[in-house]
Amino acid sequence: MSAPLYAVFGNPVAHSRSPLIHQMFARQEGTAIRYERILAEPGAFGQAAADFFAAGGQGANVTVPFKTDACHWADSLSERARAAGAVNTLIKQADGRITGDNTDGAGLLRDITANLQVALAGKRLLLLGAGGAARGVMLPLQQAGPASLTVANRTAGKAQELAEAFGAQACPLADLPAGGFDVVINATSGGLSGELPAIAPAVLSACELAYDMVYAAEPTAFLRFAEQAGARRGADGLGMLVEQAAESYYLWRGFRPDTAPVLAAMRANP
Ligand code: ATR
Repeated sequence: MSAPLYAVFGNPVAHSRSPLIHQMFARQEGTAIRYERILAEPGAFGQAAADFFAAGGQGANVTVPFKTDACHWADSLSERARAAGAVNTLIKQADGRITGDNTDGAGLLRDITANLQVALAGKRLLLLGAGGAARGVMLPLQQAGPASLTVANRTAGKAQELAEAFGAQACPLADLPAGGFDVVINATSGGLSGELPAIAPAVLSACELAYDMVYAAEPTAFLRFAEQAGARRGADGLGMLVEQAAESYYLWRGFRPDTAPVLAAMRANP
């Protein structure tokens, strides 16, 4: 019998590091898997996913821009996928039905609390951004029991809407209080091109952790800004990437990978 088949769907997808990560997990499990990159055309995700599972696929990751499509396409959803309005993990059940889950928030939480050893309970959290990436982590952030969760975004109305949906609070970027937050998470997509949300450096002056959900070989623009603003520590999203993958792998195979050596290997080869 051939090795079980998994894949990541995206567009673009050639850069995805998921195959590398999942093959490292499989080696830990002492098993062989196939893990492919599948480039789907915009509007054609459902057909591509149906073809993949009909051909024997066991599970899949879904990345930009198909997480919302996957949410509509799956036969059923986990609570966290429904809350996120997005699916990053598809799982084929024994009866052939496909469930959609979202491990992004769990991955972020695990990276912050287990890898970086920063507790979120009782802390003042600031989430920058109100798009898909921000929505995807709202439920787990609320469940971590922070003293407060504030959402701020360039388009203030979107922050207001997102905060209301999750019982959090919104604040205009220009009104964020100096020294007002213990943990600041950047979930805006502007960072990829070096653009930052317009916040005053003093907002980060009491910050124990500045976390950028994107990652790059060099410190991101947000992490450089945070360091200059006096944040005690900074972290990029590579740990989140590995942790969300580990959670997907566990959902598929019931085996929980040890993420530390995988994260170290990824850091060594950015
Ligand atoms: P994603 O799925 O990555 O979250 P998205 O849903 O398009 O992508 O959301 C992008 C987020 O990054 C939004 O919060 C966006 O702010 P707006 O709602 O005002 O558009 C934010 N963003 C993108 N570019 C930005 C920039 N240059 N400065 C500040 N915020 C930016």
